[in-house]
Amino acid sequence: MLEQSETIPDFPKPGIVFRDLTPAFADPETFRAVIDDLSAAFAGTFDAVAGVEARGFLLASALAYSTSTHLVAVRKAGKLPGEVLSEEYALEYGTATLQLKPSSLRAGARVLIVDDVLATGGSCRATARLIERAGGTVAGIGLVLELTGLGGRQALSHYPLHVLVSEP
Ligand code: HPA
Repeated sequence: MLEQSETIPDFPKPGIVFRDLTPAFADPETFRAVIDDLSAAFAGTFDAVAGVEARGFLLASALAYSTSTHLVAVRKAGKLPGEVLSEEYALEYGTATLQLKPSSLRAGARVLIVDDVLATGGSCRATARLIERAGGTVAGIGLVLELTGLGGRQALSHYPLHVLVSEP
């Protein structure tokens, strides 16, 4: 399903082999199949979809639209105005901070987290913490490509997890 994705050595840092799914998402049939698969995997279990900046936004917005659920933006530090919650996490290459406006979640919201690639699971874990701190519950985590061997699945073992494709 991800035949059109690309693999880029030494991006964004030397030693990192980067998987770029955006060429696959550019294909209308592939993008529709991805959104439909995520929607079916978690059908009826969520009332909001949280996308992790930036590529998660592509998936979350289409999924929220197609399922008539609330769209929640989880953003990199410094982008959201007003009151925000912050969580720092480790990347394959350094650390980063994600932020959420607590006002973007309704009390008790069941939130599905989506992103394109599962590597160490750090960004999804940080997102799950943000949602819980804001009073929501994590309905599940949906990812398109799991890079096995980086510990991501273990890091997310508390949550229902669905991935479309797993690769070493
Ligand atoms: N591709 C996209 N996102 C990522 C990767 C990757 O290889 N590793 C960590 N995040």
